[in-house]
Amino acid sequence: MAHPLPRPQSFARSVPLRGTIRVPGDKSISHRALMLAALAIGESVIDGLLEGEDVLATAAAMRAMGADVVRDALPDGSVRWRVHGVGVGGLLQPQAALEMGNSGTSTRLLMGLVASHPISCTFTGDASLSRRPMGRVIDPLSRMGAEFTASPGGRLPLMVRGICPAVPIEYRLPVASAQVKSAVLLAGLNTPGITRVIEPVATRDHSERMLKGFGAGLTVEQVEGARIISIRGEAELRAQAITVPGDPSSAAFPVVAALLVPGSEVTIANVGLNPTRAGLFEVLRAMGGDIRLVDERTVGGEPVADLVVRHSALRGMDVPPELAPSMIDEFPILFVAAAMAEGRTVMRGLEELRVKESDRLTTMATGLRACGVGVEELPDGLIVAGRGGDPLPGGATVAAMLDHRIAMSFAVAGLIARDPITIDDIAPVATSFPGFQGMLAQLTEWAGPPEAAAAS
Ligand code: S3P
Repeated sequence: MAHPLPRPQSFARSVPLRGTIRVPGDKSISHRALMLAALAIGESVIDGLLEGEDVLATAAAMRAMGADVVRDALPDGSVRWRVHGVGVGGLLQPQAALEMGNSGTSTRLLMGLVASHPISCTFTGDASLSRRPMGRVIDPLSRMGAEFTASPGGRLPLMVRGICPAVPIEYRLPVASAQVKSAVLLAGLNTPGITRVIEPVATRDHSERMLKGFGAGLTVEQVEGARIISIRGEAELRAQAITVPGDPSSAAFPVVAALLVPGSEVTIANVGLNPTRAGLFEVLRAMGGDIRLVDERTVGGEPVADLVVRHSALRGMDVPPELAPSMIDEFPILFVAAAMAEGRTVMRGLEELRVKESDRLTTMATGLRACGVGVEELPDGLIVAGRGGDPLPGGATVAAMLDHRIAMSFAVAGLIARDPITIDDIAPVATSFPGFQGMLAQLTEWAGPPEAAAAS
């Protein structure tokens, strides 16, 4: 895939952040909503869908495989997506390669869907996605009978030749990965009999919740600490109306920004707080962060609340490794929070961060050091020396490595740096958080135009 020219952007020390914002819809839930709606009988409607590049890649793929996917701008200014599904088993052969951009979730989940349909698909992606391992889904899906031709190391571009009927399997996850779990469950949707995934460590459970919501026969049992998820194949999914809550992984950025920028008080409305996703807020509270939950409610089968966050003096801590799966995407921004805490923060059990959109341990360690923060990189984590509330020296250009969460983490770091921090390419932010810079600008609007608002 051709890459547009990099777009550098600098972030400077900020006045207090104030106001109420909303973050875009949850990325994980948005992907699943489009995929299941595309397999259901009838027309589903989706409100609050994330319109980031990753999710749009999923929408385009579902269209290419026969679903009718339409975006309606409503008179009240909101947007509603309508999806007319093809029915389980009804996916059509796409006419061209499916371009997945930066999106690992689209790729791995769609590989699962294709695996049990009688079609062949080629998946391509950008430089970041083309470095990521796909063997973790190729392995179980091959056991179900699908065939793969992958680039060296089990990477993209790769071709999947699906099989119908596929063979149901029982698969114990060797890595804690919701993407692998979901790929197998989605393949199981069009496979006769029961497909079973054994999950020794719980990961985000949006697939299970939504599959049940669409009417699939799915059960979850707890046996000796493991979750056993069974799905009955050749399912018939019924169209649904879905409301996607705000993404806690996106909310993480304004939450940490408000905790770190002195004098801040910010409300982030409508944040999804599924327990399999909310580990960061628990850790930040344990570090002394003032984060209150207001108006706790259920939206689209998911727990949701508004978060009220005030500037707080944070203390470093040893983050329990068992919390990692519930905050796996939030470590880059936690590293920034740790840099401002009193004392050191130890974060381990994070090998998986090396195979995200970038190697998030090395990318963050390199960038934080360039900004004057003491960091020790371990094979499975980072130890960050906190500055006890002293601004970061900053004054560096950091490489985002095509990784949206790295770019946003250093943008937040810039707000508390003595000298501005420049991100070499801000463009990847559009994969998960369109409007990120506008959201930050909104929180300083109270102080007048940006030039006047920049703290001296
Ligand atoms: C996701 C699962 C996680 C996460 C990713 C989204 C999902 O990946 O990092 O951003 O929607 O299932 P892994 O399954 O690789 O941990």
